[in-house]
Amino acid sequence: MEVFNDIRLDKNSTKHLYLQLFDEIKKLIELYNIKPHTKLPTIRYLADKLNVNNSTIVNAYNKLEAEGFIYKKIGSGTFVQDIRNKGVKKQILDEETSMSMDNFNIDVNASYSEKIINFASTAPMPDLFPIDDFKLVLNEVLDRDKGRAFTYLESQGYLDLRKAICNYLLDFNIKTCEDNVHIISGAQQGIDILSKALIEYGNVVFTENPTYTGAIAVFKSRSARIVEIPINKDGIDLIDLEYKLRSFKPKFIYTMPNFQNPTGYCYTTTKMKKLIELAEKYNFYIIEDDYLSDLHSIDKPRNTLKSLDTADKVIYIKSFSKVFMPGLRLAFMIIPKTIYNEVISAKHISDISTSSLIQRAFHLYLEKKIWQKHIEQVNIAYSERYKTIIKSIKKHMPKQIKYILPEGGLNFWFSLPSGYSANELYKLCYKNKIAIAPGSLFDVWQRDTRHFRLSIASIHNDEIDSGISKLGKIITYFLKNNGKDSISVNLYNNLF
Ligand SMILES: Cc1ncc(COP(=O)(O)O)c(C=O)c1O
Repeated sequence: MEVFNDIRLDKNSTKHLYLQLFDEIKKLIELYNIKPHTKLPTIRYLADKLNVNNSTIVNAYNKLEAEGFIYKKIGSGTFVQDIRNKGVKKQILDEETSMSMDNFNIDVNASYSEKIINFASTAPMPDLFPIDDFKLVLNEVLDRDKGRAFTYLESQGYLDLRKAICNYLLDFNIKTCEDNVHIISGAQQGIDILSKALIEYGNVVFTENPTYTGAIAVFKSRSARIVEIPINKDGIDLIDLEYKLRSFKPKFIYTMPNFQNPTGYCYTTTKMKKLIELAEKYNFYIIEDDYLSDLHSIDKPRNTLKSLDTADKVIYIKSFSKVFMPGLRLAFMIIPKTIYNEVISAKHISDISTSSLIQRAFHLYLEKKIWQKHIEQVNIAYSERYKTIIKSIKKHMPKQIKYILPEGGLNFWFSLPSGYSANELYKLCYKNKIAIAPGSLFDVWQRDTRHFRLSIASIHNDEIDSGISKLGKIITYFLKNNGKDSISVNLYNNLF
């Protein structure tokens, strides 16, 4: 098998040879350089080829089997597992609202005398919801439209709302017309619809690494091959992207150019433009998941890919969940005309149309300019929390923890020193009543990493400093104990 010619094992490394081999083969399987159900070389053949003992191959194969990357058939040999659905069942679909703890064997229902400090969730808190104003527009719609407010609407969405959205987008330098706007029941549905419209079994899609959990779940459910491109503090790694574009032909790349989830990083305008150039050159679509650009960054308004898209390569998804009310299930997309039919059909199959009542009410909310008032209040609340957490991080985070502070938004991304497990840190924190989001949630294969995310969406301003101070103490303890045996330790009485 040719792909095995490129495997290099370093006999001088402190890392066991079988672990090096495990990593190499795993990478080949994840990148689909070895296709599902391909027979792997025999132990003796590979041992000779790599000039190692048979036991190195046996141990690597055993670990690959234990982790679900290969399977053995008695009498026939060892084969590559079809990993495209690996982990879908365990996928945490709603890490943003309620942090499922399935992967960590923690009893989420355990009753704690004090409440958990929640740095994990990115769901906004109900005290920011504009209930009274929304009640007014709902009543107005009911008085005005009566029973029509509850009829089916066309799948593309309520025309007046689509027109109002075109006006709203002018503030973001996006010029489009109502024919290109599609109303959807949340950005999550948008990702799902686009995947149904564009992906067939085994097609390649590119994602940033790390990326949004809900998107990973969708792409896996469509049996797509997911290829990850690293994200840096100024946006996606374009060199790696172009390198992979020479080997793969992705249907699209899924991106979050503003306040990326989970890292909080923003693309520079130069990177945005270069990404669009690459989309033209290699002929793929870019999905821009713009879930936060209504929030100001510290010094300047943010650009979007869509506002720079002269090639009609950007599929723009805009959610109102993080800055308005997630339970409304309201978002929209701007799509190129070339995929109109496929998208309309996928939306119709999914839920026929988004709620007529909610679309009509939101249309009035925009028309009456109540939106502007609301978004100003949201910006004030989040920028207060942003400033508080920045100060607290600088004051309380142990110096071994590395981070790049984002320009705004809700998410903050941290790295433990190498060799430490963020899953283990998560367990220790949870035991001590602090919720953080470990990097494995944002990894395509849910691999444990040394990274974790904190969010300020679900925490009050006055809880932030004491929360980060406690977290700093937990991390100091964790590092001092080499990140071991943490699950059983309740530090509450000793440290806080
Ligand atoms: C990046 C990103 N995209 C999409 C969504 C889903 O948004 P919606 O509530 O509009 O479906 C989320 C929710 O957390 C998210 O973080």
